[in-house]
Amino acid sequence: MHSSIASFQWLLYIFTVISSLQVSATRFNIPRLSPTRGTILQNPEILSATISEDFQTFYYNQTLDHFNYRPESYSTFQQRYVINFKYWGGGAGADANAPIFVYLGAEGPLDGDISIIGFLTDNAARFNALLVYIEHRYYGKSIPFGSREEALKNASTLGYFNSAQAVTDYAEILLYIKEKFNARHSPVIVIGGSYGGMLATWFRLKYPHVALGALASSAPILYFDDITPRNGYYSIVTRDFREASETCYETIMKSWAEIEKVASKPDGLSILSKKFRTCKPLKDSYELEDYLELVYADAAQYNQPPKYPVNMLCGGIDGAALGTDNDILSKIFAGVVAHEGNMSCYVNPPTIESETTVGWRWQTCSEMVIPIGTDNTTMFQPAPFNLSSFIDGCESLYGVSPRPHWVTAYYGGYVSYY
Ligand SMILES: *[C@@H]1O[C@H](CO)[C@@H](O)[C@H](O)[C@H]1NC(C)=O
Ligand SMILES: *[C@@H]1O[C@H](CO)[C@@H](O)[C@H](O)[C@H]1NC(C)=O
Ligand SMILES: *[C@@H]1O[C@H](CO)[C@@H](O)[C@H](O)[C@H]1NC(C)=O
Ligand SMILES: *[C@@H]1O[C@H](CO)[C@@H](O)[C@H](O)[C@H]1NC(C)=O
Ligand SMILES: *[C@@H]1O[C@H](CO)[C@@H](O)[C@H](O)[C@H]1NC(C)=O
Repeated sequence: MHSSIASFQWLLYIFTVISSLQVSATRFNIPRLSPTRGTILQNPEILSATISEDFQTFYYNQTLDHFNYRPESYSTFQQRYVINFKYWGGGAGADANAPIFVYLGAEGPLDGDISIIGFLTDNAARFNALLVYIEHRYYGKSIPFGSREEALKNASTLGYFNSAQAVTDYAEILLYIKEKFNARHSPVIVIGGSYGGMLATWFRLKYPHVALGALASSAPILYFDDITPRNGYYSIVTRDFREASETCYETIMKSWAEIEKVASKPDGLSILSKKFRTCKPLKDSYELEDYLELVYADAAQYNQPPKYPVNMLCGGIDGAALGTDNDILSKIFAGVVAHEGNMSCYVNPPTIESETTVGWRWQTCSEMVIPIGTDNTTMFQPAPFNLSSFIDGCESLYGVSPRPHWVTAYYGGYVSYY
């Protein structure tokens, strides 16, 4: 992931800030890894309308719990999948070995993905491929327990919301599709980005008889259990900024202490609110700092032609020195405006929580424990990942404890016998 993400236009990266998990002075940013931006997913209904008629929607009666034999495990829910037959040369067609390209849904409704993921449609004609897109359970229209409200109620219903169930859902549906469309001899290639790329990787590991291959783009399968250094993500973001402009990097480095200095004044938060033209008065300085971190990470994420957002942002920060306001915070704000555009307000606009935010919060608090933090080697404020406070936060939210070692225990990690 990291800088290489930028080469995959369809793989974007967003952060979610879980303020309810904020523990003492530790800011609590959990990375959310998504092929589409959360904002795009806000209104899937509108997006569905833009999907062409080539895409047909189906539902599969999916088993709630694949892994035990208690009666309640056998209950089912409708899982959505979408097929595009336009290029398909297999089945009854001439090319019995034509492949099936499968997009594995990730942490959001499928609707947004289909119109954005060009990889499948771009390659379908050349291979006479069948295109299949499957929605991840607990997102979009693939919700167990009859309603989203019931499904997300508490850990008793959320307990079936995990990656092992999800990849098994995909295996069942793919075996069913191969049977239904006379595609028994068609090789299956599973494809995903970010969390979806992890699923593609893990799918290929667990179901080599179903998938001949997997394409996983920017899938951080090694960002678990301290296999990857905790500061890895923010180090790369930092490097991107330094490469763009050393003075910009230095201004950002200095800005955190400046924010804290202003915030500690009696009317400090209102000064900061005014300076950064916030949509609502700031509750605390972390609100501003979290926002700035997100803006910087977002710029690095998309740092590719034609816009090179890091250069644009740093252009704002460095350029502000030429104007009348050349204090550190004015420079930072000029950088924000250069990146975000001229908006009526910044930092904390009114938002509704997306399905992705809500769902990914559970996923990170159960198995997707990605120990990501900052130390003094980055341009961000040192905010080391603290597993025990992370666990405390999750327990108070859901009443159950995350399993930080489950991903590596189940799917693999470091080989430990040499
Ligand atoms: C799926 O379940 C619904 C409701 O239980 C049922 O009406 C439908 O026939 C089932 N579809 C298939 C393909 O089994
Ligand atoms: C979840 O809610 C249901 C009914 O509202 C209750 O029976 C169950 O014990 C709850 N589970 C947990 C873990 O709180
Ligand atoms: C930015 O927008 C405000 C109104 O929201 C407008 O008054 C101002 O001229 C704009 N500035 C630029 C540089 O476009
Ligand atoms: C960073 O932290 C390490 C360990 O806490 C310390 O040894 C080092 O001096 C610090 N470096 C800077 C530049 O503050
Ligand atoms: C981590 O958080 C706990 C509180 O949950 C605190 O007691 C501990 O000192 C923290 N560890 C570090 C290294 O900051």
